[in-house]
Amino acid sequence: MKRDVFLTLVAQLKSSGAGLWRHSLNTANLTRALLKLFPPGTLDVCEEDLFLAALLHDVGKTQLDPALLEKPGPLTPQEWMVIRQHPSLSVALIRQLDPEIPARITALILYHHEHWDGKGYFGLAGTAIPAGARLLAIADALEAMLSNRPYRPSLTWAEAILEIEKNAGTQFDAYLVGKIVRDCQMIEKDYLTENETASLTVPSLFAGSKPAQ
Ligand SMILES: [Fe+2]
Repeated sequence: MKRDVFLTLVAQLKSSGAGLWRHSLNTANLTRALLKLFPPGTLDVCEEDLFLAALLHDVGKTQLDPALLEKPGPLTPQEWMVIRQHPSLSVALIRQLDPEIPARITALILYHHEHWDGKGYFGLAGTAIPAGARLLAIADALEAMLSNRPYRPSLTWAEAILEIEKNAGTQFDAYLVGKIVRDCQMIEKDYLTENETASLTVPSLFAGSKPAQ
């Protein structure tokens, strides 16, 4: 991805409301931290692709009504239909700016709401869901639980991990969850930010002269 396209998408996340930038940055950092728990090559995804996908996974939400994103109460079926479009909207928006974006990256974004048991947005199940998307789904859920919402306070790290564990084998890949539960004390959580204006402090994507592809 070209640097200017990347920065345009980041600017969109930053300028939207509903805590989207903070969630995106935290989720990207957390996804990368989770990936590091696995020996290199264990999961069929490279760190840079996964970080980029995690950072941009919800960028399609910038096209949706912020009032809907922040709605505290239960959503109507129609509202759910709109929300469920956001992975496709994310990919469409990115493709519009970067038609060359590799399918291996857009697949991670498109399938970040799949469930291991096939009950997610597109109905993909098990290993048909890319491994990176399965890991991103866990980080996404963890980050949401660790954040304050208008309708509930944040969970502690231990409570959030317990919730993930409860949903292993149904919503989440039990192999990934097992490893994360065993080794999560190794995860540094200092970088998780509550700051809406936090800047991207993880620029390895564009390190050196060679831009990330
Ligand atoms: Fe999402």
